[in-house]
Amino acid sequence: LSAADKTNVKNVFTKIGGQADEYGADALERMFTTYPQTKTYFPHFDLAKGSAQVKGHGKKVAGALIEAVNHIDDLAGALSKLSDLHAQELRVDPVNFKLLGQCFLVVVATRNPSLLTPEVHASLDKFLCAVGTVLTAKYR
Ligand code: HEM
Repeated sequence: LSAADKTNVKNVFTKIGGQADEYGADALERMFTTYPQTKTYFPHFDLAKGSAQVKGHGKKVAGALIEAVNHIDDLAGALSKLSDLHAQELRVDPVNFKLLGQCFLVVVATRNPSLLTPEVHASLDKFLCAVGTVLTAKYR
């Protein structure tokens, strides 16, 4: 990520602010609906629309993204534990990170259209890809 990308990403999360949890839950809900195969990782969840579990998980995902933004120069360090979890324990297929990333972008676009200029879209896409790369770096 270039210096401009980092600034763009930080600005997005500043603007999203206290609504980040809702963005996280919306992105998950959209992923489960658009790409139903992603539901296979959550057999123990109630995935109905508006489910408390999805909302709770959206908050966790958003929290991790905020943590990543706050340590944007050390994503690998900031997400190390989550990387162990996703790659070694959950063994989530890497393709799914692209799907969730796309869904998060669409949520930003629909909830905050003026925010997502093409430049910001590109920066946020790079950031979400970088997060996905870290979370899928430790398969063995
Ligand atoms: C758990 C973040 C992508 C499947 C978690 C947790 C966080 C998180 C913070 C909770 C960890 C804990 O409780 O200690 C993220 C981020 C992602 C991402 C930031 C990408 C931007 C994905 C994808 C999948 C997935 C693409 C599969 C489609 C899971 C599962 C759990 C989990 C199954 C455990 C849920 C539970 O039983 O509570 N993730 N995740 N994650 N994640 Fe992810």
